[in-house]
Amino acid sequence: MSQNIREFLLSARQDGRRLSMVTCYDAAFAEICQEAGIDLLLVGDSVANAVLGYAKTAQIGMGEMLHHTAAVRRGSPSSRIVTDLPFGSDELPETAVPNGLALMAAGADAVKLEGAKLDSVRALVAAGVPVVAHLGLLPQTATSLKQAGKNPEEAAQILKDATDLAQAGASAVVLEHIPTPLAAEITQKLAIPTIGIGAGGECSGQVLVLHDLLGLSARRPPFAKAFVDLRKLALEGLVSYHQAVTTRQFP
Ligand code: KIV
Repeated sequence: MSQNIREFLLSARQDGRRLSMVTCYDAAFAEICQEAGIDLLLVGDSVANAVLGYAKTAQIGMGEMLHHTAAVRRGSPSSRIVTDLPFGSDELPETAVPNGLALMAAGADAVKLEGAKLDSVRALVAAGVPVVAHLGLLPQTATSLKQAGKNPEEAAQILKDATDLAQAGASAVVLEHIPTPLAAEITQKLAIPTIGIGAGGECSGQVLVLHDLLGLSARRPPFAKAFVDLRKLALEGLVSYHQAVTTRQFP
């Protein structure tokens, strides 16, 4: 899969085919995502908040990302898997490349990194590691959840970063929490797909956090939509189980 994820992304962009991406952190859900036909699984560092109980994505490192990438690959042998390079692992090409190669060895087809780290992107691509970039709201370093690119200077910088990242060899760019017209402009200008989250409906694809879209999160950002309420179903099942066991109705 790793040789052709770039071709897949570029051909989707060329054909105007919309891409579905969802975060995935374990084998059980990876199997379901594969069966659902999701185009791209993202082993996001949001595993920190969604699953591991940390307050910030920056609190996890390579060990956790390798562990979860391997689990997702075991659950879904044929999915296209993108894994986040965690905070501090990708600032310099000297660390980005071995870390990217380690994630590929664990089962990723590409890595994602936040911000315009052009030297790291070039080095990763030269080492055979496909890269997905991430611009706009950058959870690893953000101090608030406010929308990025709202003023003209910020918008121009994001557009320039996106163009530079595409030129450096990125295969796609995630655009998080930016205005819809800016996301539309970037999408029009780039030959690689844009994958939006809180960036309106004009991107080439969409990504959501699995626990948000399944309704498992206690809180979710306003731009995330729950397509089912699994938290409610899980709670009902667990309460029924508890009652059945404690009243001797099961087993
Ligand atoms: O880690 C993550 O879940 C992400 C998405 C917000 C795109 O990077």
